[in-house]
Formats: sequence, C-alpha cells, structure tokens
Amino acid sequence: MAVRRFSEKKLTGEVLFRIRKTKNPRLKRVMTSFIRHLHGFVRDVKPTQEEWMSGIQFLTDTGRWCNDKRNEYILMSDTLGVSMLVDALNYQASAGATQSTVLGPFHREGAPEFALGANVAKNVSDGEPCLVSGTVRDTAGRPLAGAKLDIWEGGADGLYDAQKGDAMNLRGVFRADAGGRFHFRCVRPTFYPVPNDGPVGKMLVATGRHPMRPPHLHFWITAPGHKPLVTHLFRKGGRYLDSDAVFGVKPELIVEFRRGKDGISRVSYDFVLIPEPSGKEKKRRS
Ligand code: BEZ
Ligand code: FE
Repeated sequence: MAVRRFSEKKLTGEVLFRIRKTKNPRLKRVMTSFIRHLHGFVRDVKPTQEEWMSGIQFLTDTGRWCNDKRNEYILMSDTLGVSMLVDALNYQASAGATQSTVLGPFHREGAPEFALGANVAKNVSDGEPCLVSGTVRDTAGRPLAGAKLDIWEGGADGLYDAQKGDAMNLRGVFRADAGGRFHFRCVRPTFYPVPNDGPVGKMLVATGRHPMRPPHLHFWITAPGHKPLVTHLFRKGGRYLDSDAVFGVKPELIVEFRRGKDGISRVSYDFVLIPEPSGKEKKRRS
C-alpha cells in the first residue's frame, strides 16, 4: 500500500480527515476547532523540540499538582482569563440582573446551613467583623423567598479553610426570608494571593505578573426557576481591583464595606437573578 507523505501544509487537513467519522456532532465541532487552533499555534510559534518538550513538561507538572483540594488546571484557566471568557459567553446578565464572576477553586459542597444573622467566622482571629445584608429578587423586582445563598471567603491570614485542613470555616449556607431578605456576619475581606507555589505560580513569575486577588466575598445564589448566580462582592478601595490575577472584577460588583465607629464593617447588596425560561419557552426559542 502506498504511504502518503504529508507536507507541513497538508498535515492539518489529514488530521481533520481522520476524525471525519466522529458521531457526536458537538465533539466533532470541538475537536475540529481544537486541532485547527493547535496547529495554527505551532505554526505561529515554531517551537524547537526542546521548547515543545518543556511545554509538555509544564502540562505534566500541572497535572501532578492536582488533588482533591487543589486543581492546578482550574488555576491555569483562571489566570489565563479563560474561566472569565467561558463565564461571559454563558452568563449574559440581562438588564438589571446581577453580574456573575469566576467560581474559583475554594467553593466546598456541604457547607453548614445557618439561621439568618449567624456568624460564619469561628475565631476572633479570622478577621475584622463584618455584617452583610441585602435582598434576592428577580428581574421584575419580586422577592425570591427561600433563595439559597452559599457564601465563602478567605481569612485575615489570606488563606481559605481548605488550605489549612479539613475543618470548615468562613463559609455557610443561608436562606432568604419571605421578603427575599438575608443578613449574616463574616469577616471584612482582605486581598490574598492565588495558590502560587506550583507551575501556575512559575508561569505568573515568568510572565511578570503578581498572583494577588482584590478583597472579595464569594456568593453562589440559587432559586427555583432562576439561573444560578456565581459572583463576588469586591471591597471598594481594596488593593488589586485593577489587576486581579484572575480577571474577575466587574465595576457593578465593587461596593463599600463601611467600617463603623464600633469597628464593624457593613455592606448591603440587592442581588437580581435571571428567570430561567420554562420548558415551553425554551422550545419556542430554539
Ligand atoms: C478565589 O477567589 O478564591 C480564587 C479564584 C480563582 C483562582 C484562585 C482563587
Ligand atoms: Fe476568593
């Protein structure tokens, strides 16, 4: 059988030809684009063999750093702006709806559920006291009674609970009351670095970047019949708002955490969730 010789120019077409029988149309679309862009990248950069091997080594190291508490690939996606790009393409906040931002690697399933007003900080040393309140509504202004607010944050030492052990702290689940209102206590957010002792940290240094995130508090808000909202509140005046290592800051999410004479910071925010189209509406739109 004659063996065809693939010129550099024809190689991409040949690889695409080999995947022509892919049954799943979405997979075929994704793989076609991936192969085209990957070959385009290699043509653009023209790596030496050594450079290509060091790229493969970087990806190998990244995989080796992953475990059930640390996902270096998510960190890579976050620090290269890909997570925010995926979010922007999937969550388009319609008029009046609250903007979304990156989930990050520190959300944990099974955080304790607290009554409204509870303090998620177990220790005085966790940080300065802070009172958070507000409402959860739909885009028509109707309160979303019983909306679930899953919240988490790092402490004054710049670390999340999972970076220190298994015990949960500075996180909790609250339910909005009949008027869609919520309030809880936590600590005033401070800036902190994303985990930077692995391959992604090396990449940040090599590309002249810092690893810092501005002070923020995480929210994952859900209510039946509405799009889940993953977002943060960023502290106005905090450092690194203009150079977040993961590109997560949006102006609408920057709010004043006003420190009172009593030493307690207070912030209030009204979240607006987007109604999910009903089954019938989805059909009509597609
Ligand atoms: C965070 O805010 O917790 C975070 C987000 C992205 C990467 C690392 C940390
Ligand atoms: Fe965070």
